[in-house]
Amino acid sequence: MTAPLRIGVMGCADIARRRMLPAFARAARTEVVAIASRELARARELAAVHGCRAVRGYEALLTDEEVEAVYVPLPAALHAEWTEAALLAGKHVLVEKPVSLRRETTGRLVELATSRRLALMENVMFVHHGRHAAVRKLLAEEAIGELRGFEAHFTVPRRPEDDIRRQPELGGGALWDTGVYPLRAARYFLGPGLRVIGASLVRSRGHRVESAGTALLAAPEGTGIHVSFGLDHAYRSSYALWGTGGSIAVDRAFTPAADHRPVIRLADGTGVRDVFVPAEDQAHNTVGAFAAAARAGGAADGVCLEQARLLDDVRAAASLHG
Ligand SMILES: NC(=O)c1ccc[n+]([C@@H]2O[C@H](COP(=O)([O-])OP(=O)(O)OC[C@H]3O[C@@H](n4cnc5c(N)ncnc54)[C@H](OP(=O)(O)O)[C@@H]3O)[C@@H](O)[C@H]2O)c1
Repeated sequence: MTAPLRIGVMGCADIARRRMLPAFARAARTEVVAIASRELARARELAAVHGCRAVRGYEALLTDEEVEAVYVPLPAALHAEWTEAALLAGKHVLVEKPVSLRRETTGRLVELATSRRLALMENVMFVHHGRHAAVRKLLAEEAIGELRGFEAHFTVPRRPEDDIRRQPELGGGALWDTGVYPLRAARYFLGPGLRVIGASLVRSRGHRVESAGTALLAAPEGTGIHVSFGLDHAYRSSYALWGTGGSIAVDRAFTPAADHRPVIRLADGTGVRDVFVPAEDQAHNTVGAFAAAARAGGAADGVCLEQARLLDDVRAAASLHG
């Protein structure tokens, strides 16, 4: 059996504590060997829980020979800098979404990873949940006829004022945080070549970054796509597809708990029925895919580049209100 991929974690982020460290621990293909923090005491406290080493500062992970791969759950504005440093140090990288704040930068990082035969994966986990493959299968079988429209929404309640998502200097804002999900879902179901037709971003009172957004896109053959995202909303995490003969709706689509029993609601000529698919831990699936890519000699995830273009295009097309 191949030895587990030895992971170093950059920063004691909430997402690392809640989802990713438990996922790395459960996966046979990965082993966390070190946790880095700007504060050594914080790294020590978390490392003690996970039975690994604590180090002060992120640079220390990059010179650590035991570390083969790093997980980067830093604020969005720091993703590119530390991803580049890790790739230059010869480490595989699993980086939180988005890889960077600019398409050109993401393109440069994808090229760097490819030229060094290192894995570079963006931590968009829902695409690793089998439920969406089941929806794709229904589409391919023409369960709803020919696809005519798609919509996707990801909105979450307001975060505290000091949250990283509310700081412009840390790459905050609804587009880079929550907008990634519905745009990636559109790419997942409608393929490449999506075009942004129009967009709007809104900054609600007390916010220094956009707290909401919506965009209209079209697939190459004209199928319409509506996405919305936000950081100051009631929770919504869903998508729907309409065809000539029916529709498919998926709720709790993007960040389901590992034990959530997923449902696909299918409406067709015979009525409405719920299709149940098995619960899956998408974090576990994601770390497995990352370890496999690293062991296969690296493969940069090219879809993140297209997603970066869509994020850029939405921002360029948007008028900012508020
Ligand atoms: N894929 C998903 O499902 C998912 C879900 C949630 C979040 N995320 C992403 O994960 C990343 C982290 O989100 P989070 O909610 O876990 O954030 P968080 O709890 O605020 O953690 C961010 C970490 O970054 C480090 N850091 C370095 N410089 C910092 C600075 N100037 N200000 C604040 N923190 C700084 C800190 O670690 P030390 O102080 O220990 O060094 C901190 O613990 C974001 O990119 C977010 O979009 C992804």
